[in-house]
Amino acid sequence: MFPSTLPVPRLPDAKQIPVLRWGIVGPGWIADHFAHALRNHTDQQLVAVSSRSRDKAQRFADKWSIAHACGGIDELLARDDVDAIYIATPHNHHFPDGLRVIEAGKNVLIEKPLALNAGQAKQLKQAAAARNVLCMEAMWCDFAPKYDVIRQLLDDGALGDVHTLIADHGEFFTPDHRIFNQELAGGPMLDLGSYLVGFSVFVGGAPTSIVAKGQDAAGGVNGQTSMLFTHAQGMHSVLHTTLFSNTPGTAVIAGRGASIVMDGQFYAPGHFRLTSSDGSRTLHWEEPNNRYDQLCHEINHFAWCIGQNRIDSPRHSLDTAILTLSAMDEVRKQIGIVFNEELL
Ligand SMILES: NC(=O)c1ccc[n+]([C@@H]2O[C@H](COP(=O)([O-])OP(=O)(O)OC[C@H]3O[C@@H](n4cnc5c(N)ncnc54)[C@H](OP(=O)(O)O)[C@@H]3O)[C@@H](O)[C@H]2O)c1
Repeated sequence: MFPSTLPVPRLPDAKQIPVLRWGIVGPGWIADHFAHALRNHTDQQLVAVSSRSRDKAQRFADKWSIAHACGGIDELLARDDVDAIYIATPHNHHFPDGLRVIEAGKNVLIEKPLALNAGQAKQLKQAAAARNVLCMEAMWCDFAPKYDVIRQLLDDGALGDVHTLIADHGEFFTPDHRIFNQELAGGPMLDLGSYLVGFSVFVGGAPTSIVAKGQDAAGGVNGQTSMLFTHAQGMHSVLHTTLFSNTPGTAVIAGRGASIVMDGQFYAPGHFRLTSSDGSRTLHWEEPNNRYDQLCHEINHFAWCIGQNRIDSPRHSLDTAILTLSAMDEVRKQIGIVFNEELL
């Protein structure tokens, strides 16, 4: 049934969001945006930062008025004035860094992907349960208002039977970027592809079959991958990611009754339209393209989970992250990509 209006996004009640004292591990590109969002768009406190280089930690601390600059993760974990740690290191450091945080008894928000593969992600889940701490993947789009509107439209059956998801995510990277570095689990799959595969799981659930083709890039990493997933309810996901070039980053969720067209980058803040299949009715989702300001939603949701004594997010559970990584494991198996850590 086509709705008369779009659903209202469900965000946590501000009164139910406790103020946490945060520490950051890996003060790089995304950590800078995280600090900006936390400082300007939440009531959370940012109290410590750690880097392999104390000087670098100090520079980041000076920029964001953070009280404590630590020369390594152990120094940060030894602090008893830190409630939550945000891991913003490269992909292959998420698992070892996340495990150290959990074993130190602290709550952890880990940048996407949660880990290199589903096996590592399951270990994180088990460790977090054993220590009774919150572990959450920072899949920022899943906490954003736009995704919650789409979540409600899907749950309400506003699109009818959904048969097709088409999405792409390609970005041009210069050869010096870590995405070309085999030592840092490079290739587009974990960086860009995690949004695509995550979105496919978000819309259609776990894939029941996967066909993938890859093309290598220089440096021994995958350069681009095309994927076809089928899902239990008959949906097909047609997905493509590349590190060679910019692509529009659009997505279409096509149902018998209506379709959603996300004509900006689907995973980022921006507009979408819901149009009935006969073309007679359209509803528009409009929002400012305030990009990384919207990291505030994952931060607030994490703090809300702590306030509710949860060790897993009801909005983006560890099982969801594990399903996504399982699908990416199968894609990598088919295109012949094995990460260094998996060779051990
Ligand atoms: N949510 C989003 O929109 C978004 C956007 C971009 C990236 N990400 C994710 O965030 C993570 C970090 O991405 P980024 O682009 O911010 O990375 P980055 O700036 O290249 O690196 C982040 C930090 O990781 C540490 N690091 C770099 N190389 C390392 C190495 N060889 N060994 C150990 N630590 C190393 C460095 O910290 P120190 O040298 O200070 O220790 C660095 O500041 C990635 O997993 C990515 O998928 C998410």
